[in-house]
Amino acid sequence: MEQIGIIGAGTMGRGIAQVASTAGHKVILFDLHESVIQDAQQSHTKILDRLIEKGRIDENEKNRILGNIEYTANFNLLSDSEIVIEAIVENLDIKHKVFKQLESQVSESCIIASNTSSLSITSLAASLDNPGRFIGIHFFNPAPLMKLVEIIPAIQTSIGVTDKATNLIQSWNKTTVQAKDTPGFIVNKVARPFYSEAIRIYEEGIADFSTIDDAMKSMAGFRMGPFQLMDFIGHDVNYTVTETVWEAFYYDPRYKPSFTQKRLKEAGFLGRKSGRGFYDYNQENPVPPPSEDENLKKYIANRIIMMLINEAADTLHSRIASKEDIDLAMTKGVNYPNGLLAWADEIGIQVCVESIDALYNDYHEDRYRCSPVLRMMAKQDQKFF
Ligand code: NAI
Repeated sequence: MEQIGIIGAGTMGRGIAQVASTAGHKVILFDLHESVIQDAQQSHTKILDRLIEKGRIDENEKNRILGNIEYTANFNLLSDSEIVIEAIVENLDIKHKVFKQLESQVSESCIIASNTSSLSITSLAASLDNPGRFIGIHFFNPAPLMKLVEIIPAIQTSIGVTDKATNLIQSWNKTTVQAKDTPGFIVNKVARPFYSEAIRIYEEGIADFSTIDDAMKSMAGFRMGPFQLMDFIGHDVNYTVTETVWEAFYYDPRYKPSFTQKRLKEAGFLGRKSGRGFYDYNQENPVPPPSEDENLKKYIANRIIMMLINEAADTLHSRIASKEDIDLAMTKGVNYPNGLLAWADEIGIQVCVESIDALYNDYHEDRYRCSPVLRMMAKQDQKFF
């Protein structure tokens, strides 16, 4: 494909534009607002200058990448694109309008894609006369650095379109995984317990933030603890993803958001970006020393990992993605130290079932129900890989 169109030059659109232009495509980067377009151009220049400073690229490469991108507020320039990726505000009605307008401008063979995190790809495709050309292509932030891209065909998407989109994104040096069009796709669904179970452990007074964070790093090998990571992502964003997934799964208690995080959001304690979240970054040492109780930390790490494994197993059970893609998504998309299903094999499926059942026996809440696939596998002494 030669020309790639991108609609929306915000955080994601400009990142995707950089990836596509680096891969050698002519990129039309469109936004409604002139100020955003200028800002995108300046931010690309800054990023590429930094790469020159680090010795990763030279001046020629910078000029090549910048020269490939046309920054524009003229929608007509998108007409010759072979694929257009939309990355505008997360609003179904606005996206529908944009897709309708786009379809009337581009060729019949042009693929139309959305980078949406939370809207149904099927509902977006339905706005088109030819929904078969539509697909979800979900990048992670920052797009130039994050290796993973989720490919989400709508139920209307033609097989050829899925293959073309997958090949294109792989040619951009990205790892692709394919997900069924369900809320949160793979990563934003499977990762929920990392946050919610950590908050639950805190809310029950079992441990404080720094002990829970330390447990996940020292006992389970995660690069960041859940509270550190939520502060980094921002509570406005992280809470909204949790709430959206919970609502979209018909209020399944497994995804229920917490008051603890809601209050932070309401207070404007959004995390690092506002100076305060779970931790107060205005203090000299925002993270208090964690407990040294190794047994406590083992309990915490085990409980959160079991809930993650249960979610990964459920994702496989619901045929949302293959076991290989579920593990790849979590290691490449959110840097988990291990694929969750491979981890379940290492721990032993029977041990996982007993751990999750023990939580259920303690709480008798549906949140702690063991995925049937784990139970069936344990009975037959099977492994995932
Ligand atoms: P953003 O707010 O940074 O950028 C959105 C851009 O779209 C703005 O520059 C705005 O001027 C422009 N825009 C709004 N309406 C438009 C229209 N009708 N035509 C053209 N441009 C229009 O948003 P962000 O974070 O880049 O998100 C964009 C999409 O990517 C959303 O669907 C979001 O769910 C998704 N996404 C966001 C991620 C993130 O971490 N920020 C990660 C993965 C996906």
